[in-house]
Amino acid sequence: MGFLQDNGLDLKAIDAQALLDAFLKEMEKGLGGEGSLPMIPSDLHLPDGPIRDVEVPAFDVGGTNIRSARVRFGSSGSPTVENLRRGFMPGSRGHVTHAEFYQILCNVLTDNVRPGETLGYCFSYPVDENGRLLYWTKGIQADDIVGTDVRDDLAEALAANGVADCRVRILNDTVAALLAAYAHAGAEECAGVVGFILGTGSNTAYAERADRITKRPDLPQGTLVPINCESGNFSVFPRSTFDEAYERANGTGHGFWERCISGAHLGELGTFVLRGAADAGLLSPGLRDSVHSRCFSNIELDDFCAGRRDDVLFCAPGEARTVRALLIPIYERAALFAAINIAAAGLASARARGLTSGVIRVNADGSTFWKTACIPFVDRVKEHLAALLGPKGFTVDILRIDDAPLLGAALAAAAR
Ligand code: BGC
Repeated sequence: MGFLQDNGLDLKAIDAQALLDAFLKEMEKGLGGEGSLPMIPSDLHLPDGPIRDVEVPAFDVGGTNIRSARVRFGSSGSPTVENLRRGFMPGSRGHVTHAEFYQILCNVLTDNVRPGETLGYCFSYPVDENGRLLYWTKGIQADDIVGTDVRDDLAEALAANGVADCRVRILNDTVAALLAAYAHAGAEECAGVVGFILGTGSNTAYAERADRITKRPDLPQGTLVPINCESGNFSVFPRSTFDEAYERANGTGHGFWERCISGAHLGELGTFVLRGAADAGLLSPGLRDSVHSRCFSNIELDDFCAGRRDDVLFCAPGEARTVRALLIPIYERAALFAAINIAAAGLASARARGLTSGVIRVNADGSTFWKTACIPFVDRVKEHLAALLGPKGFTVDILRIDDAPLLGAALAAAAR
């Protein structure tokens, strides 16, 4: 056995089909209020036709950046994003208070929203049905916000900044991606529709039949309800000693799966693999010191492994090959896990629509998904999806919709 295999990072030992079954089981449990997946129902309706001749404010609060815009749906229903304003996510570069947090949001937002308007608010963090932030992910430092109503507090902050009486329709970024996928081409000809994000964080959404969401008997029966799975919390999967060491070092007790696949974590996880290898005597003393001196980011390690930046880790070509051989399996595992995640939501979506074969349309968003370069990431996800879903009668169509979070927020704002 090799070093990685001995430490439980062994792609060949992963039974992808069994993991897919475990994922589906855990999703089912979450619909009943149990297990590791929050499966949060959204109160938004799926678009049932094009939205025309209307302009709405949209706000996208993501892992690293925040953006506001006016989104105009023309007479054909096609959207245009106008007057884009940008800023950094408050709390992503040091601690902020409640007041600072909302002031930073309002600085980016107020130009694009008028008193009395309905605002679509795409908020890429776990928020319950009452608008309360459950906990932060992606390392955001703004403790005062946890447990508070981020929907009402935004409306209040807008009022304090001179924009009174706004109604805020909040939605997760995966739900925004899901709405954008429905709006893009309808769903009639699809077996299933999925919103998937793999960027700084990771998560999945699909629409479930209300009667299957047993923890919420109050939902309108006979409808399809968008579900924010918070799939980054999936916990029933084999972890390597590196995952465990990384969790021990700075884990939050949430997001075990997300820590194996998303951009906020792959760099640190990779650093833990390199440190393990250094401690096992597999790296030269110079490189050992260097991997113990700091944590590398996902972008640095991906660039190094893709041969785009040699200066991330100074080492001779032979040792650079060793480093790549140690790190590439993490990216390969992330591609497999992403596929399992998408497949589970796709199958659940098709089941909710009563379909047993056909095309599953996935709106995938996020830089880790589209920009990882050290392996052909998207192709790899597609290969895994074909292997997982082909035998069950499904194919997958992966869409890349520009500005999906803003667009989804605008669809939520414009919905009747
Ligand atoms: C958050 C999700 C979000 C995902 C993708 C995760 O860290 O918990 O709510 O959808 O990142 O942005």
